[in-house]
Amino acid sequence: MRVLVLGATGRVGTEVARRASEAGHEVTAFVRDPARLKLRPAHVAPGDIARQETLVAALSGGIDAVVNAVGADPLKPSTIVTDTARVIAAAMHAGGVRRYVAISGTAQMPKTPLGALSIAILRLTPVGNAIRDHQGAFAIVTASELDWTLAGCPWIKDGPARGYREHATFPGGMKSIVPGDVAAFLVSVLEQPSYSRRIVGIWP
Ligand SMILES: NC(=O)c1ccc[n+]([C@@H]2O[C@H](COP(=O)([O-])OP(=O)(O)OC[C@H]3O[C@@H](n4cnc5c(N)ncnc54)[C@H](OP(=O)(O)O)[C@@H]3O)[C@@H](O)[C@H]2O)c1
Repeated sequence: MRVLVLGATGRVGTEVARRASEAGHEVTAFVRDPARLKLRPAHVAPGDIARQETLVAALSGGIDAVVNAVGADPLKPSTIVTDTARVIAAAMHAGGVRRYVAISGTAQMPKTPLGALSIAILRLTPVGNAIRDHQGAFAIVTASELDWTLAGCPWIKDGPARGYREHATFPGGMKSIVPGDVAAFLVSVLEQPSYSRRIVGIWP
């Protein structure tokens, strides 16, 4: 597949670009500053989410799927996740590209009562902003006509890939996953129709 990776200089995005290339996909990295890339993908599309025309240009070269790993410090107020969902959904619609794979949070997943309580408490902390930001993106993506799959990620901490399991429901409690495992999931579902229009929790 010809895959456009948004956020290809980030922790997860770097791993997505690497693993997608290794899996035989033709990767285009959409980045603000190509000098920040830690590896050389097949193609580089310089751009910024804040300039929709750069996304439209990146999609115009012939893209089959988009993996979105754009984000910001979850402890600081930001709307980057919602903003990115809005502009990429519009650009993909205009460009006729449907397959969309992205990161979401456990707050967007079906939850057990304990899971719901955990999220309600988290909403009262500085992480509450990131939850609201992902909720905005979730609303945009799930209302779109995109062929989407979302990874329901808990805390993403640095470390070597260690493997993960897929979960339908968030049960609460502290969970974490490493960037390599998030990327492995995002790349693995690219060509899997059974994951269409689903959010899947991933943690060990
Ligand atoms: N941290 C967690 O525990 C956690 C938990 C659940 C979900 N998530 C989500 O996981 C995703 C990826 O996390 P991460 O830790 O890999 O993020 P990260 O390392 O901070 O990387 C973020 C990426 O987004 C890019 N970006 C930011 N603003 C941009 C813009 N205006 N235009 C184009 N690119 C832009 C950055 O590019 P530059 O290099 O140019 O800055 C970078 O490549 C985020 O959506 C985050 O909300 C995180």
